Amino acid sequence: MRFPEKFLWGGATAANQCEGAYNEDGKGLSIQDVLPKGFKLITDEPTADNLKLKGIDYYHRFKEDIRLFTEMGFKVYRFSIAWSRIYPTGEEEQPNEAGLRFYDEVIDECLKYGIEPLVTISHYETPLALAKKYNGWADRRLIDLYVKYCRTLFERYKKKVKYWITFNEINSIIHQPFMSGAILTPKEQLTQQDLYQAIHHELVASARAVKLAHELMPQAMIGCMILAVTIYPLTPNPDDIIEVMKLERNTYLFADVQVRGEYPAYAKRIFEENNIHLNITNQDKEDLKNVVDFVSFSYYSSNCASADPTKGEPTGSNMTTNLKRNPYSKVSEWGWQIDPQGLRYTLNRFYDRYQKPLFIVENGLGATDELIMQADGSYTVEDDYRIQYMNDHLIQVSEAIKDGVDVLGYTAWGCIDLVSCSTAEMKKRYGFIYVDLDNDGIGSMQRYKKKSFDWYKNVIATNGESL
Ligand code: BG6
Repeated sequence: MRFPEKFLWGGATAANQCEGAYNEDGKGLSIQDVLPKGFKLITDEPTADNLKLKGIDYYHRFKEDIRLFTEMGFKVYRFSIAWSRIYPTGEEEQPNEAGLRFYDEVIDECLKYGIEPLVTISHYETPLALAKKYNGWADRRLIDLYVKYCRTLFERYKKKVKYWITFNEINSIIHQPFMSGAILTPKEQLTQQDLYQAIHHELVASARAVKLAHELMPQAMIGCMILAVTIYPLTPNPDDIIEVMKLERNTYLFADVQVRGEYPAYAKRIFEENNIHLNITNQDKEDLKNVVDFVSFSYYSSNCASADPTKGEPTGSNMTTNLKRNPYSKVSEWGWQIDPQGLRYTLNRFYDRYQKPLFIVENGLGATDELIMQADGSYTVEDDYRIQYMNDHLIQVSEAIKDGVDVLGYTAWGCIDLVSCSTAEMKKRYGFIYVDLDNDGIGSMQRYKKKSFDWYKNVIATNGESL
């Protein structure tokens, strides 16, 4: 057997990338509603060219979509709850009942088909009002507001949801302070002091959510979620090895705190050398001791790094900075390097370090797809490139399992096509299900099964034996 019997196969989405209905049923604006071009542009108000405002109309079609996930045999479905559907500005005394009811329906639909919901509490969609009023996570008051929101979710869904994730890709705040941390200060002007204080606030908020989850839902499993920025040295030059060690710590620091309950030893030097003096209260230290039950992460690609900035070719990856191409890796249409073995390596590195169950909650290939008519008049997408990518990655997951790594499950990113995060376009598709919608927002929104739909269905049905 390549995969454990109870392996959780499934897919993942995020509210802001699929729901649409950005101002329906009392929803407040989120930071995504002013990001029409992904990372590249922040507008004052929502603009018509922002595809996320309508998304793939999942808000009105989720039953059809979950039925398709069921047809593939999903055991788990990861989705996020839009904070601003529950607390439109983040500060209301009472939650928005219509928002809560919507997620009741989504969860009930999953449970009806025996799909385990895996809820991301915050997936790059902080209420915009909190960015404008407090500069997002730079302000300590966000902790209490987030914990209040968590309490509402836990009390409402505690009987239905076992798996929770506190923050999507919490470490991405280093690269994208607005999208990840709702911090309006432009990245170039943001001091390391303010950035790391915001990070500290998120880490405390996450730990307090873990504490609350354990109190209110003793059966629940609550995890952290890390953007796995897997880095190899560009050359065997010891300078490059040390460079990689330092860069890796930008990722590890977040998981180290959430898994071990305190800042790692190397943080002291990072703080000293960058003139960072964190305000850490005694209560914060106590709170941080509430450690996660599992470590989840996204993995799309690996990169190289060099101590010499003039060496190597820069990568096209837009989630990270200063990384170099690996001459041994292929590259996606969007410049993301493809490295299936990097996933085995990443799983082993995390497991060696933490000995906690791991969950791969994002992986997949963003590609341009073409909808074609078949002989019988039905439509499909011949996405062999996606099948190849996922097949190669899943084989490496099975290798990691043989290595002894405890992997809880795998949720393919964007299991249904949705608006991309970094570029806010439809053209970059990840799904097993094609959605008829283009970059201009034109299309019927109709859903079509791609070739990968049946492929994944078979992978799940055979518990990975078909790989
Ligand atoms: C992850 C995010 O970083 O990458 C997702 O958690 C995102 O929200 C995914 O969609 C892929 O990135 P992109 O830019 O191709 O959508």
